[in-house]
This record gives sequence, structure tokens and C-alpha cells, in this order.
Amino acid sequence: MSIKLLSFVLSTSVVVLSILSAANAQTPAPANAAPQSYRPGLGDLMTMTVQPRHTKLGLAGQEKNWAYAAYELHELEEAFERAARVWPTYRTVSIADLIVATTKEPMEAVSEAIKSADAARFAAAYGRLTETCNACHQATGRGVVVIQVPKASPFPDQDFRPVKQ
Ligand code: HEC
Repeated sequence: MSIKLLSFVLSTSVVVLSILSAANAQTPAPANAAPQSYRPGLGDLMTMTVQPRHTKLGLAGQEKNWAYAAYELHELEEAFERAARVWPTYRTVSIADLIVATTKEPMEAVSEAIKSADAARFAAAYGRLTETCNACHQATGRGVVVIQVPKASPFPDQDFRPVKQ
């Protein structure tokens, strides 16, 4: 290797090494630091979990798919519980208390309608549940968020009709 080439190789290695050591010099995270966890906003959780569950529950009822409606009602309950766990308070309002105060009664009525496989009762109870979505939005200063009974399915890959046994 010529002297010129050798000095080029050496100087290049010095540059590479100094870049590497600069990278290493960045403050490492303390060993006991927990990774920053993602905390979705209440509006995100409503959009990601509560809203699709509410939609699917409505579509299940419209198709008289009672087994699936029971499943989806439970999922909706859990979606509310998880939202309240992540956001116990929204602004100054206790979300956990408000969820129980607004949704408990209509959800029980929906459950009774599902158990009795009664489409008319389901439609009435589901309508009341939908009104309580809006009651809570109004109570929390989010009255611009208006929920309605779904008119069509936004899920083209899912069949909401009862499974033929
Ligand atoms: C306990 C009160 C409460 C109940 C009950 C509730 N919501 Fe909400 N919802 C909120 C609040 C508060 C926000 C605004 C959150 C924010 O802006 O971060 C919200 C926001 C939303 C949003 C986001 C709006 C958007 O377009 O981005 C949707 C969708 C929504 N709710 C759907 C529902 C549905 C469907 C139900 C009923 C099954 C429901 N919510 C019941 C309190 C509630």
C-alpha cells in the first residue's frame, strides 16, 4: 500500500471513528426508564373503539343476529371501561361516573332485547343508547359530535347476518 493510500485510509477511519464515538456520546436512556407509552386521546378512543362497536351492534340488531349482537354489546361495554381507565377525568368531568350514569340503563335494555330476540325492542333500546351518546357529548361540551343509528355498513368485508347453523 502506498503511503498516500495508507494516509487516506487512516484519515477516513479517523473520521468514521469520530462519527461513531459522537453517536455513542449521545445521552443513553437511563436503564430504569420506562418506554414512553402511547396514550390515545378520549376522542381517539371513541373513534377507534366505541364508535365501531356501536355501529356493529346496530347492524347486528338490524340483521336480527342476536348471538353476534350479544358479543358486540359486551365489546362496547369493554370499550367504555377502557376509555374510562385511560381518561378517568375529561376536563373537570368524571368520565367513569358519566358513562355509568348515561349508558348503563339503555345498555341493559339492549341486552334484554337481545335475550328475547325482539327486533322492535332492540330498535327502541338501541335508539335510546344512541341518544345517550349525544347526551354525554352535550354534557361534556362536545355537542358537535352527533351520533345516529347506522344507515349502512361501513365494513365491506364483514357479513352481519346470522351464521347459518
Ligand atoms: C361519558 C361521556 C361519553 C359517552 C357516554 C360517549 N361519548 Fe363519545 N365522546 C365523549 C367526549 C368527551 C368526546 C370528545 C373527546 C375529545 O375531544 O378528546 C367524545 C368524542 C366522540 C367521538 C369523536 C368525534 C370525532 O368525530 O372525531 C366519537 C366518534 C364518539 N365520541 C362516539 C360515541 C358513541 C358512538 C357513543 C355511544 C355509544 C359515545 N361516543 C358515548 C364523551 C362520551
